[in-house]
Amino acid sequence: MIYVAPSLLAADFSNLETDIKRIERAGANYLHLDVMDGAFVPNISFGAPVITAIRRTTKLIFDVHLMINDPIRYIDDFVKAGADIITIHYESCKDPLKVLRYIHSREVRAAIAISPATPVEVLYPLLSEVDMVLIMTVVPGFGGQQLSPDTIPKVKAVKEYLDAHSLKAHIEVDGGITADNIGLLTEAGADIIVAGSAIFNAKKPSEVVKAMRAEADAHPYK
Ligand code: DX5
Ligand code: ZN
Repeated sequence: MIYVAPSLLAADFSNLETDIKRIERAGANYLHLDVMDGAFVPNISFGAPVITAIRRTTKLIFDVHLMINDPIRYIDDFVKAGADIITIHYESCKDPLKVLRYIHSREVRAAIAISPATPVEVLYPLLSEVDMVLIMTVVPGFGGQQLSPDTIPKVKAVKEYLDAHSLKAHIEVDGGITADNIGLLTEAGADIIVAGSAIFNAKKPSEVVKAMRAEADAHPYK
């Protein structure tokens, strides 16, 4: 099963409720929430208060992608705001395992992300401790970038490692994904697909979600 996770970063911030309802109707499974602090990444997006507010408008699974330094400081805030999954960046803290365990202690799913410059091997010791891995397919910080193809072998490497060790973590991919390239990622083993501009900028998001699912079905992991 492929899960589609539209990224709210590409929504109309003056009409969040309307935009969320639109992607819900379009068949999204998750809502991907990009939190940026202007330090770990150059951009600033939104934080826990916005997530608390939109939590009241939808039952979609909240997939919170923290692009912030030293994320342990804010885990409680995002749990309280209604996060279902919290992803931290490997590069954002000294002891990612401690943060992942802290997220689990708050009964929320925990995930680890790596930026394109980070080698995939750093993830291996953490894979038995996470519910999901996020392989960034662009340099984090901005929506609307082009997918970087050299990140795709990382997806395959993680999938093979998970299978070889009978681990069940999901693999999420994020950045520059469209109906035209989604097949390369599902073929490599990704099963949670983030897409911001491709879905929110479409006249008919439901058509895009449909096209993405069809392409994903046509390119399964083997
Ligand atoms: C980038 C974010 C992504 C981004 C995806 O730092 O993590 O989630 O919003 O947007 P698109 O699909 O437009 O690349
Ligand atoms: Zn993201």
